[in-house]
Amino acid sequence: MDAMMLEIKNLRVRLRVEGEPRTVIHDTSFTIGAGEAFGLIGESGSGKSMTARAVARLLPEGAECTGEIAFAGKPVLALKPDELRRYRVDDVAMIFQDPRASINPVRTVGDFLTEAARTNFGMRRREAEDKAVALLAEVGIADGGRRLKQHPHQLSGGLLQRVMIASALMGDPKLLLADEPTTALDVTTQSEVMGILNRLRAEHGVAMLFITHDLELAGAVCDRIGVMYAGSIVETLSSDALHEAARHPYTQGLLTSRPSLTATTRRLPVIPGKPLSAFEAPGGCAFAPRCAHVIAQCRESGPEFVDGVRCHRVGELS
Ligand SMILES: Nc1ncnc2c1ncn2[C@@H]1O[C@H](COP(=O)(O)OP(=O)(O)OP(=O)(O)O)[C@@H](O)[C@H]1O
Ligand SMILES: [Mg+2]
Repeated sequence: MDAMMLEIKNLRVRLRVEGEPRTVIHDTSFTIGAGEAFGLIGESGSGKSMTARAVARLLPEGAECTGEIAFAGKPVLALKPDELRRYRVDDVAMIFQDPRASINPVRTVGDFLTEAARTNFGMRRREAEDKAVALLAEVGIADGGRRLKQHPHQLSGGLLQRVMIASALMGDPKLLLADEPTTALDVTTQSEVMGILNRLRAEHGVAMLFITHDLELAGAVCDRIGVMYAGSIVETLSSDALHEAARHPYTQGLLTSRPSLTATTRRLPVIPGKPLSAFEAPGGCAFAPRCAHVIAQCRESGPEFVDGVRCHRVGELS
């Protein structure tokens, strides 16, 4: 990989959860190269969405964010309001899980797609519509001209997610933050949308932060993977290494608990215990209460992130 597109170092996010100030991300570091796809996986509450929102500076009101986030060398956390606006217009775009929740139901698809380009780039309506139709074609919507006049409720979930992807590409972003972009879709549509994202990534050369619960999916579409547990990354590894060389007991647990396509009748082994958010984790290693390899040291002190993994026992277990 050449130049680093995104470098995150010791990210920490604190915000009010149910009225209490809580740490939801701590000590999270990773990088994404230009054109690279980085998968962020982990159970519910582990902090995946908050990480993406921190990168886009879209954290909930009152959140405190410390550490470093550099976009092409630019310190994101230090951007002034007008620089932040340019950053969101020119550099990053976000795709969310539920397209219906982030698109205004009373406006047309055309308004939704062209509004930002018209206000931010001063494009004329006709020019913006031409670009929108071209992008709709790229995401597999052939009759774009007709779609522009429709309202969101006239489109299926799968079509609407394609519209969201086209919208994210309207500003030619360098980094796409895709937060479970296919979770709300049925399996067939899911794989079509994934195929589109992959192709666009290759053709437009955009880097992607791809968030999912699905380890298998992350392995299939990403170059590298970061595994999050209780607000921090416990392992980063290349997708090629996922099945053969996962070293953290949590990653190994996720690999054995994933549904197998061949052994459908077998009951799935699951990681015992429940997933935690950062502020719910005990002292020491956050995964210790659920780990099959736990020793006294794990409960006493939290392991550092060394050489791509955060585990006291990694030397003995790998
Ligand atoms: N808008 C919010 N205000 C306050 N706390 C929040 C908000 N959104 C999430 N949280 C809390 O922040 C923590 C991290 O949540 P986050 O949404 O990043 O998890 P996630 O890994 O994306 O989970 P999921 O897989 O369920 O989407 C959780 O404890 C969650 O309850
Ligand atoms: Mg989430």
